[in-house]
Amino acid sequence: MKIHIVYYTSTGNTRKIALAIRSALDNHDVDVLELEDYQPRNLIDYELLILGSGVYLGLVGDKLIEFVRNAINFTLKYACFYSRERKEPYPDCFQPIREEADLRGSNCIGEFHCLGEPFTYYSNEE
Ligand SMILES: Cc1cc2nc3c(=O)[nH]c(=O)nc-3n(C[C@H](O)[C@H](O)[C@H](O)COP(=O)(O)O)c2cc1C
Repeated sequence: MKIHIVYYTSTGNTRKIALAIRSALDNHDVDVLELEDYQPRNLIDYELLILGSGVYLGLVGDKLIEFVRNAINFTLKYACFYSRERKEPYPDCFQPIREEADLRGSNCIGEFHCLGEPFTYYSNEE
């Protein structure tokens, strides 16, 4: 199967998950994209799109949302994953992406979430 893993990471946790997923899919044809700068993509050739992000102030990364909104063509199937710091999951964090995928007729076939390494804000001020 031709699969595209697209993810946004701020501190690296999502990259670890994305690369673990790619390893687990080693009998498939997998392209991996870490979102840095936004570029519109044509996703029509992929049978499955896997979208990943950390949770930032309750939502997935803006760049991932923009990526989906501006994709030229979409896939029929997608799956998504996110990591977070808080114990409770964020069932709505992918909502902007779900809405866009619904408009494009794409079905979510699975969702995964887990705890990431805690984000700590270090301040030089005492
Ligand atoms: C700016 C910022 C905001 C965050 N906001 C939340 C939050 O609202 N809830 C939460 O559980 N974790 C929050 N976190 C923690 C991240 O979701 C968690 O560390 C995640 O694994 C980060 O993924 P990444 O390393 O791929 O960026 C935040 C982290 C950062 C840097």
